[in-house]
Amino acid sequence: MTKVAIFASGSGSNFENIVQRVKEGQLQNIEVTALYTDHDDAYAIERAQQLGVPVHVTIPKTFDSKKAYEQQLIKLLKAEQVEWIVLAGYMRLIGPDLLEAYEGRILNIHPSLLPKFKGIDAIGQAYESGDKETGSTVHYVDSGMDTGEIIEQSRCEIHPDDTKAQLEERIKNLEYELYPRVIAKIIR
Ligand code: GRF
Repeated sequence: MTKVAIFASGSGSNFENIVQRVKEGQLQNIEVTALYTDHDDAYAIERAQQLGVPVHVTIPKTFDSKKAYEQQLIKLLKAEQVEWIVLAGYMRLIGPDLLEAYEGRILNIHPSLLPKFKGIDAIGQAYESGDKETGSTVHYVDSGMDTGEIIEQSRCEIHPDDTKAQLEERIKNLEYELYPRVIAKIIR
């Protein structure tokens, strides 16, 4: 069993999807040790409680520095022998300490066809762009924002009459297939 921690700041639907896949045996040899969140009001916490997954709430502003915050995360991760970190809507750059501790073992999913539309509101950026297609990307995490090596992408159309919410739903549905597939391939 490879121990994996999932980091999420918000809704946590990708987190829930991954945990469900593990529970249903579609994602094998993976154990999700806990949800790690930086927001005490993240809806992901409720999902974790319903799924019976432990939660670590660690609030960055209660630490003196990013280094101290990340050292606390590393302590928790090492205590549960986590080998890989899966970011799923974690709205924070990973700093040097955590990067060094988990070098080459942090994945992220970003809702655009990187290198297009990095950063926040990638779906809104694509929606406003006039492009006819967008998608989602799973990549390794480095010190930049959505700049790490791309592992795999899924594409979908942007329809002329789409609302932003419809586009978001289409991308989320791609992600629910893409992320477990990449996790199964990369994390062994
Ligand atoms: C996803 O679209 C992911 O690509 C991005 O943040 C979103 C998280 O959504 N990094 P959710 O919290 O999993 O619903």
